[in-house]
Amino acid sequence: MATVLSVSGSPSATSRTARLLRHLDDRLRAQGHEVIPFDIRTLPPAALLHADFAHPAIVEATALFERADGIVIGTPVYKAAYSGLLKSLLDLLPQYALAGKTVLPLATGGTTAHVLAIDYALRPVLNSMGPAHITPGWFTLDKDITAADDGTLAVAPASAEALVQVTDQFSLALGGRPTLLAATG
Ligand SMILES: Cc1cc2nc3c(=O)[nH]c(=O)nc-3n(C[C@H](O)[C@H](O)[C@H](O)COP(=O)(O)O)c2cc1C
Repeated sequence: MATVLSVSGSPSATSRTARLLRHLDDRLRAQGHEVIPFDIRTLPPAALLHADFAHPAIVEATALFERADGIVIGTPVYKAAYSGLLKSLLDLLPQYALAGKTVLPLATGGTTAHVLAIDYALRPVLNSMGPAHITPGWFTLDKDITAADDGTLAVAPASAEALVQVTDQFSLALGGRPTLLAATG
């Protein structure tokens, strides 16, 4: 099956976006994919802020993108767009770092006023990097994601169902086998 890089662009240590991605990673693994979780916030801040293309951590991150067949890009909505942290890494990747790849864009945000941030802000940036496909994405309200102390995640039913659909569509585009899991929430 495919290799999937699951990238969180949240700077938060208790990120809902990252938790949501890690939750969906399990579903993708159940469909036969190798999933590599990746939190941009673990990269050295100076390398990102000083555009240090040659820094070993940036070179390694670039290699992870190269290796992947599919890429999940998850970001919190900040100021009606994607996070600056996500952009700081995308800016350091080669122009066509997404060439030939299938991409699933996901966002979390605090208000439905910015539900279109994926389509108006993130999608054009991803498109400029030459992906083979960008499959339909999904915006999840932060209040619909609840993390318990033991790390388990609950997603409100309507969002959970939509996330299953977009995740499975992404997986199928990568040749994943249909899963028997009914929902992610
Ligand atoms: C600096 C900042 C700016 C934000 N701007 C927006 C915004 O413009 N629109 C929105 O819907 N939510 C906004 N939010 C809310 C976050 O997108 C939301 O809580 C998200 O789920 C946080 O994800 P995280 O826990 O992965 O960091 C903002 C949050 C922060 C901290």
